[in-house]
Amino acid sequence: MMANGFPLKNCRAVITGASSGLGAEFARQLAPQAQSLVLVARRADALEAVKNELQAFPVQVFCCVADLATDVGRNAVLAFLDAKGLKPNLLINNAGMGDYGDFASSSAEKTRTQIELNITALTMLTHALLPRLERPGGVLNVSSLASTLPMPDLAVYAASKAYVTSFSEALAVELAPQNITVTCVCPGPTPTNFSQNAKRAVGTDTNREGQSLLRIPPTQVVRRALGALQQAEACVFPGAGVAIASRVFRLLPRGLLRVLLRWRHGKE
Ligand SMILES: NC(=O)c1ccc[n+]([C@@H]2O[C@H](COP(=O)([O-])OP(=O)(O)OC[C@H]3O[C@@H](n4cnc5c(N)ncnc54)[C@H](OP(=O)(O)O)[C@@H]3O)[C@@H](O)[C@H]2O)c1
Repeated sequence: MMANGFPLKNCRAVITGASSGLGAEFARQLAPQAQSLVLVARRADALEAVKNELQAFPVQVFCCVADLATDVGRNAVLAFLDAKGLKPNLLINNAGMGDYGDFASSSAEKTRTQIELNITALTMLTHALLPRLERPGGVLNVSSLASTLPMPDLAVYAASKAYVTSFSEALAVELAPQNITVTCVCPGPTPTNFSQNAKRAVGTDTNREGQSLLRIPPTQVVRRALGALQQAEACVFPGAGVAIASRVFRLLPRGLLRVLLRWRHGKE
């Protein structure tokens, strides 16, 4: 059975990673039609700044400061919803981070945090909120074009996003009969704080060859993602370049893909 799509009008959303980039843009685009928004991230001042931007709209906005890479932070979000008596019907799992550079020299702590945030937080928040999610409900998971291929020098990130895409597509099938729409959005390179945060203090930047062909602004990524949620599209790749690239990456024989990855990596 297909879900009918999630109606955004009067939605009550929890948005993780709402203090900048795509998360803040989800808040901006939902504000004109939402009933309430819970903005979650670690930086209180950045969350307040996003909240202030939304003052013109008749939407209740709550800031919930929490480190989602920890159990304490994840439980704090649930306690916050209970304390405020909030009953969301939409969860946007957007918070995420990357780490540019080879795996062997990566910081163990940053790698663990990345897995905790990109995989554990997304999974466990979904698990905790599903029983409370009012119907019709929605779950919008932010994955990445990186989920379609192994990425040397971004190995854990790409693998974590492969998890997000696979998990989301399975949930879309499981939850459709319960009137919960699950959509996974897989952006290509998007100008946000992501790259800045993914760079190591000492180390190289990522290989950006060809990225300009794929780059589209956060406004477009978010518009396409919310459109897909409304239409019950299970997985969407915003932008023509990203959509084509995803097809190519997914269709390439794995052996040929490895040859191309070795060639690209060898050029750095
Ligand atoms: N930009 C791209 O090129 C791109 C491409 C594909 C996919 N994506 C995905 O898009 C999503 C949003 O990233 P973005 O591009 O908008 O980057 P961003 O501007 O760096 O935003 C990341 C958000 O996550 C929050 N965050 C980071 N660590 C957190 C933690 N431990 N606990 C709670 N919140 C945390 C940050 O807020 P605080 O620092 O205040 O905690 C921030 O609001 C991520 O899942 C990313 O993987 C991005």
